[in-house]
Amino acid sequence: MSKLVITPAKKLQGAIEVPGDKSISHRAVMFGSIAEGSTKISNFLMGEDCVSTINAFRAMGVEIQLPVPSSQFPVVVKGKGLRGLKEPKKELYLGNSGTTIRLLMGILAGQDFESTLTGDASLSKRPMKRVAESLRLMGAQIGSQFPVPSSQSKEIYPPLKIKGKYPLKAIDYTLPMPSAQVKSAILLAGLYADGTTTISEPLKSRDHTERMLKEFGANIKVDGLKVSVKRSVLRSKGRIYVPGDISSAAFFMVAALILGSSRLTIKNMGVNPTRTGIIDILKAMGGDIKISPIGLNLPEPMADVTISASALKGIVIEGDLIPRAIDELPIVMVAAAFAQGTTVIKGAGELRVKETDRIESMSGNLKKMGADITIEQDNIIIRGRETLNGADVDSFGDHRTAMSMAIAGLRAQGRTSVLNTDCINTSFPEFEGLLHKLV
Ligand code: S3P
Repeated sequence: MSKLVITPAKKLQGAIEVPGDKSISHRAVMFGSIAEGSTKISNFLMGEDCVSTINAFRAMGVEIQLPVPSSQFPVVVKGKGLRGLKEPKKELYLGNSGTTIRLLMGILAGQDFESTLTGDASLSKRPMKRVAESLRLMGAQIGSQFPVPSSQSKEIYPPLKIKGKYPLKAIDYTLPMPSAQVKSAILLAGLYADGTTTISEPLKSRDHTERMLKEFGANIKVDGLKVSVKRSVLRSKGRIYVPGDISSAAFFMVAALILGSSRLTIKNMGVNPTRTGIIDILKAMGGDIKISPIGLNLPEPMADVTISASALKGIVIEGDLIPRAIDELPIVMVAAAFAQGTTVIKGAGELRVKETDRIESMSGNLKKMGADITIEQDNIIIRGRETLNGADVDSFGDHRTAMSMAIAGLRAQGRTSVLNTDCINTSFPEFEGLLHKLV
């Protein structure tokens, strides 16, 4: 089991690019696989989660070429069309990847074959009823075994069996929580359904699926918090460029803000408005962040972003900032631990069902370093301190907890060891290398 040893740093300086966005990379392979024609995906994230997506579609007969040796060249997906997937010969192992399993459930719901989805210890604890419930209404069978028991109200976890149906039945569905994974699974199933499938969200979650389905020519309409899709044929336009992942950039953005006289530029970073909650939060905390947009008419907007060290202050974070920064809340907790005054993060319950319970993992780790944190149900209250003390902390197998704690260690006094850091490879294999380059 690997660990990262972090010693204090004075500043972060330079210009970097972070690897391609994880959410967009997954979707490019998935939608490319069920489209007509080939799709060349540039700046694809070659992290373990996205490789799980590639493996799953290869196992269903899709030819996917990987660049050798590195990301200089595109990944090429030879689409099979909406109905061209083959029944997998064995169960599909999806590692740690929640996005793969949940979006795949939507696609598999519309196939006329059976499949079994499994994953690692963490994925096997992630709740799947939130996806299964709607797909069952559309006509798919999903459960731990067949026939699915008549009482379907219980929570379910992988391994999951799916018996798809074609065509599915369109539904009108209101999501109980803002979730791009659940929304996307239903939209994908909607491609295989008779009629119009409509989804309403309580707050806007990331909209990469809506944007990319439009690019692939799907019959999809977005009206505020409502999205509708009709049965459609997807046609590849040939190329997709994946912008740098704002969720990976966030670790370096916070490091630059909290370390001495830092000045850092992150180039070609994705700035889709459903993902830029982290920028709004850090700016509201007093962060000096300058954004220079690139190519305004891209399907996914991009920018060069320059961050200069700043004195941060505590703020209240709530409402649509929660889904717009859901994966960045662990690193926001680090920023808050070093800010002047109190930060309150309200209604962050979704953090409890990520790769680990991130409220517990982050508050436990930061408290070990001397941070002042109170948890009240799903609210996190952090009273900032000038400095923290180095300590031995644990990722609990969660990549974002691991990287957040490494950044906290840069500003602490003494040495911080982050244990169990292999998980970083799921989303950001270059993290340690970039950190060494910048400090
Ligand atoms: C993702 C959606 C979010 C996010 C996850 C990626 C996606 O999950 O936390 O890392 O690509 O759709 P939820 O939909 O569960 O909020």
